[in-house]
Amino acid sequence: MISKTSLEASLSEIAGPVTRRSLFQVAGVTLVGAVTVGMPGHALALGGAAEPVFPNVDTGPVTGTTMAGVPVGTLGGGTKPIFVAPPGSSDPVAHSVADTLFWGEQMMEHVMFFAMLMPGPDLARPRGEAERFQRQFSAHLTRLRGSRLDRSNYVAFNTSTLRLLNGLIEYKQRMEADQTSARMRSLVWPMFFAHTRNEATRFRARLTQLNGGNASFDRREVVPFWADKMEEHALFVSHLLDPSETALIGAANSAAATFGKLEAAPVGSKDPAMAAVQQIINFKVAAERGIEAGQIKSIIHPALADHVRREAVRFKDELARAV
Ligand SMILES: [Fe+2]
Ligand SMILES: [Fe+2]
Repeated sequence: MISKTSLEASLSEIAGPVTRRSLFQVAGVTLVGAVTVGMPGHALALGGAAEPVFPNVDTGPVTGTTMAGVPVGTLGGGTKPIFVAPPGSSDPVAHSVADTLFWGEQMMEHVMFFAMLMPGPDLARPRGEAERFQRQFSAHLTRLRGSRLDRSNYVAFNTSTLRLLNGLIEYKQRMEADQTSARMRSLVWPMFFAHTRNEATRFRARLTQLNGGNASFDRREVVPFWADKMEEHALFVSHLLDPSETALIGAANSAAATFGKLEAAPVGSKDPAMAAVQQIINFKVAAERGIEAGQIKSIIHPALADHVRREAVRFKDELARAV
């Protein structure tokens, strides 16, 4: 847990000056006003001009760096860098490195969450499988960082990633079926297995596309995919908050409804999606800081709060690139 003083300092870095009063507001202590403006049709509605509920978070410019001998970029603001391709890049090698660093980390965390939610001797076997995937993805990312990729060898590396990914997708599918049918009684919701499997299959499709030399993002794919993920994140948050956190639960449910609409009817302009993703980034940062500071009552692990925030920032980056 970090102190309120250092919390304010870290929030100031990414979101501008934050007073103790507004900090308490974002931490759910006095969120009554937020409930009013957070209802469908107001603050989180598509294209709505309502005042923001949570302090605005600037995700900042992309910082250039080199990984695997290739120029890539990162977006910060959290515990881990968010890897993206350099702005304007259409190089499938740079996108392969950035996407593998980003999604590889997410895949590793998925199985880390599963292992946390599979306690006791009865679940030793599926937990052991999760821990094995965690080690495999960690070793794979180390291999990537230590290699030098270019046009001649990136397809081979992506193919090795795909092999690993196929095993993980099969595991997530099997776990979902076991949990749904009560053959397994872990603390992982079937929807969480499905959600993380969808992210893995999307990563697989992306690598397959990159292997064909095409690095573009199509907004007809980007918006529905990420809107569905943002909707589910909001539902996860809603269900992991302490039942007494009614104001934040209301805000989470409202965000879920917003993204449900966005997914069902992707619009022609980028603006409604961009406004919605900025709102959910603001919400997730406020929630993450409140959880870290012990000001929000929940069973949300700080690593999960940061995981879903990174995915929202990644959505924003892909949306800006999408055509
Ligand atoms: Fe994820
Ligand atoms: Fe996710």
